[in-house]
Amino acid sequence: MAFGVISEIGYISMHTSDIEASVAHARDILGLVETDRSGNAVYMSSAAKKHHELVYIDAPEHGVGHIGLIAAGRRGLDTARTRVREAGYPIISETPLHAGVEDGFAFIGPEDFVYEIYIGPQTADIVPAGHAPDRFGHVNLHPKDLQATLRFFVDVLDFRISDVIGDDFAYFLRCNPEHHGVALIKGKGWMHHHAWQVQSIADLGKVGDRLHEHGLRLLMGPVRHGAGHNIAAYYVEPTGAVVELYADLEHIYDDERPPIVWPADDLKWATKWSIYDFTEFRSHGLFPAREAIAAK
Ligand SMILES: [Fe+2]
Repeated sequence: MAFGVISEIGYISMHTSDIEASVAHARDILGLVETDRSGNAVYMSSAAKKHHELVYIDAPEHGVGHIGLIAAGRRGLDTARTRVREAGYPIISETPLHAGVEDGFAFIGPEDFVYEIYIGPQTADIVPAGHAPDRFGHVNLHPKDLQATLRFFVDVLDFRISDVIGDDFAYFLRCNPEHHGVALIKGKGWMHHHAWQVQSIADLGKVGDRLHEHGLRLLMGPVRHGAGHNIAAYYVEPTGAVVELYADLEHIYDDERPPIVWPADDLKWATKWSIYDFTEFRSHGLFPAREAIAAK
């Protein structure tokens, strides 16, 4: 049901200076299963049973490696490749970055985030964990220059604007009926969180319990977001990135549905049930990995 060149959000890869701790955390808390391991990379997936939805890369420092976007078929991939080249984003690979996909290419997008656009994600022959999320859902980026990243997603990759917060403060963007596959909130230039769909609010209680059993805690939630309508809870993983588990996200089947505009000073766009101080919530995040930037 894609309406543009991208059909869904595919994966997130992160550099980590303690890969075994990161893998154990994703296994025990998030509920992912290791699907493959090659070179310096460990591949993991949810109940979606893909070759990879999350990749940890053994590296000297924590950082965001790649943001994977699945193209709408061969035609979507070819169109995206042409547009990215014409827009002048530096191509760093004309072939897929990882095993387990049919074809793809990678480039440095706005604010030094590396994107891979690909087709043909393979299925992994795994038994999902009992506490597995359903699937990888979205990334939340905090660009310094909101308009540059917005133009990239809307003009180059055909995303549509679902919700707008304030005057150039935040945009929620979709590439299919799900309310957002990418959220942009003005910030420090890092990725704030990667998000995973679960079946119900009960799963948010269970992740709180798992964190407690490991001597950890939720960062925020459960909350009901206004923008997107999802119920969500958040914690911080060892790389410093925030992880969101969510359920009950709005789906938009009217392609012409105009963006909902929320005032920034009324925090119901962020949480409808109660008022939070977002200072600590926004103090966590993960910058693009330096190795990826050096490839420029
Ligand atoms: Fe989110």
